[in-house]
Amino acid sequence: MVTINKRIIIVDDNEDVRHEISLALRHEEGATNKITDLENILFSESKENTASFDQSYEITTAEQGLEAVECVRAATEAKKPYSLAFVDMRMPPGIDGLETIKRIWTIAPYTEIVLCTAFSDHSFEDIMYTLDNPQRLIILKKPFDPLEIKQLAASLTTKWTYGVENRLNVEQLEAIIKERNQFLDAERAMRIQNAKMAALGEMAGGIAHEINNPLAIICGNASRMKRLVSHENFDKQSIDGVADKILQTSHRISKIIQSMLSVVRQDNSNIHQPHSLQKMINDCLAICQEKFRTHGIDILVDPVPESVWVECDDTQIIQVFINLLNNAFDALQTSDEEEKWLKIHFAIIGGKIEIRIIDSGPGIPDHLQEKILQPFFTTKPVGAGTGLGLSLTSSFIQNHKGRFYLDKTNSNTCFVIELDVFQQKSKISLPNDDLALKRNVESTL
Ligand SMILES: Nc1ncnc2c1ncn2[C@@H]1O[C@H](COP(=O)(O)OP(=O)(O)OP(=O)(O)O)[C@@H](O)[C@H]1O
Ligand SMILES: [Mg+2]
Repeated sequence: MVTINKRIIIVDDNEDVRHEISLALRHEEGATNKITDLENILFSESKENTASFDQSYEITTAEQGLEAVECVRAATEAKKPYSLAFVDMRMPPGIDGLETIKRIWTIAPYTEIVLCTAFSDHSFEDIMYTLDNPQRLIILKKPFDPLEIKQLAASLTTKWTYGVENRLNVEQLEAIIKERNQFLDAERAMRIQNAKMAALGEMAGGIAHEINNPLAIICGNASRMKRLVSHENFDKQSIDGVADKILQTSHRISKIIQSMLSVVRQDNSNIHQPHSLQKMINDCLAICQEKFRTHGIDILVDPVPESVWVECDDTQIIQVFINLLNNAFDALQTSDEEEKWLKIHFAIIGGKIEIRIIDSGPGIPDHLQEKILQPFFTTKPVGAGTGLGLSLTSSFIQNHKGRFYLDKTNSNTCFVIELDVFQQKSKISLPNDDLALKRNVESTL
């Protein structure tokens, strides 16, 4: 049950007025019944609470504005705030009613105020303009009827009390929502990471293939080098050629490892870094293309416009390409067509780069097209797909304020990504790819 805060302060330099208001608020049998009837009408929705109404107000009086302000400060500090103040407009020689109200509200901004005035020295508009909190102010013209005072006291002390209740409820709700959002964010981050790991797992076969071949080349060339140096007058030039071959092949492995690392890295700090589109496409292809090649699928990639850099989290964008390529691969696996291909087209349109990923697979039936972006929607057998690829893709592209959609006008399956092109290329210091690779190769050897 809510207990109404019945602490009231009356601020008036005229003792008669202070007395008159106090008297009106005093408990009187007859008057109480009348006012209780009124309250029952006003607050009939919460019978439980109206039962707690009585007219026993706790009244403080002050002759001057500054004295009232000190009373309000003391009451607030003692955690026994006033819910209502009756304030006179003119209180010579001290500060006037408007100044008193301003100061009260700096200490206790939720205090309800009845401003009592007999003069028209300030217009209603002036008063509302001067005070920051007009919704907590009522102007009462003198002389007043005691019943008005009673009504105002009953109504405004109740309003104050429910205001406190509501603010508490809102604070509690906000705390619950904050906690829930933190939980959802953590869960989302975990799901993204799981999806990445699942995608990576799927790629592992292709990667093993991709690394196995160059490894075989390195082993073969190292054996050849051993054989060459075992001859007394070995040919320096042939050895140099073999060493070059080993270095080149090691570079290739290093590149694959770099690409894998950029996919698994769980770091969003790069979101505003400019990245070369060419490099991101290459990273993706380094991971995926072997799988396509060994299954007889052609990958045809347009030359990436060299000047295109995108301000993005490269991990997310590479993950987007991988998701789309993996989907195309799965679709092409189910296709009976002789010719299987995947194409990537680029076009710069009005400061944006449009990337189209098209496959010659069986397409997406009309009735599924609306569903494919929903999280966990998959047509793949249990265990084969999580149904998160496209929903993640869509939210990653949204994170970058881009557009992602299925181009329904294309006769093949065609997903389109649109991203803003980063304009200040001249300010970017290009990473020295070869140096990075060389260091990687050296540390691997
Ligand atoms: N290129 C495509 N051709 C045909 N159907 C596709 C293609 N890309 C997506 N789909 C359809 O959209 C569905 C949802 O794709 P999404 O990538 O979200 O999940 P998934 O591939 O099933 O699972 P995963 O979470 O492993 O990616 C797929 O199950 C498939 O039915
Ligand atoms: Mg997928």
